[in-house]
Amino acid sequence: MGNLVRVSLSIEEELLDSLEKMVSEKGYENRSEFFRDMIRENMTRGKWERGGEVLGTLTVVYNHHRHGLTEKLVELQHHCGENVLASTHVHLSHEICAEMIMLKGKAEGIIKLGNEIKRLCGVLSAELAMSTTGDDIH
Ligand code: NI
Repeated sequence: MGNLVRVSLSIEEELLDSLEKMVSEKGYENRSEFFRDMIRENMTRGKWERGGEVLGTLTVVYNHHRHGLTEKLVELQHHCGENVLASTHVHLSHEICAEMIMLKGKAEGIIKLGNEIKRLCGVLSAELAMSTTGDDIH
């Protein structure tokens, strides 16, 4: 961690009320911790938007009875093999499966894979959680 510096800022009273509410609801000790996390979250989002090296988890919920879907999901992941770090499969019910795929690489490729999976027939949900490799966040 670098040297701590003290900053002051000017915001509208209503925004300050909202800030205090968020800090308390999310259980932060103080505003400083909240601001640090807000900056880190923006850095992560910025990296995704600029197409940097990122980490993400794609959660796919699908009906495995749909003909050919399981094979397509495996094929797409093999095609992007350099981005797939790991995946976990859970049988949610007799016909519904969930797969959590941990991905690392250029944001563009990861978003593309997520969209390709989302479009497959039988996929009920494919949500990408955007995270960071952490190498430039302090
Ligand atoms: Ni299953």
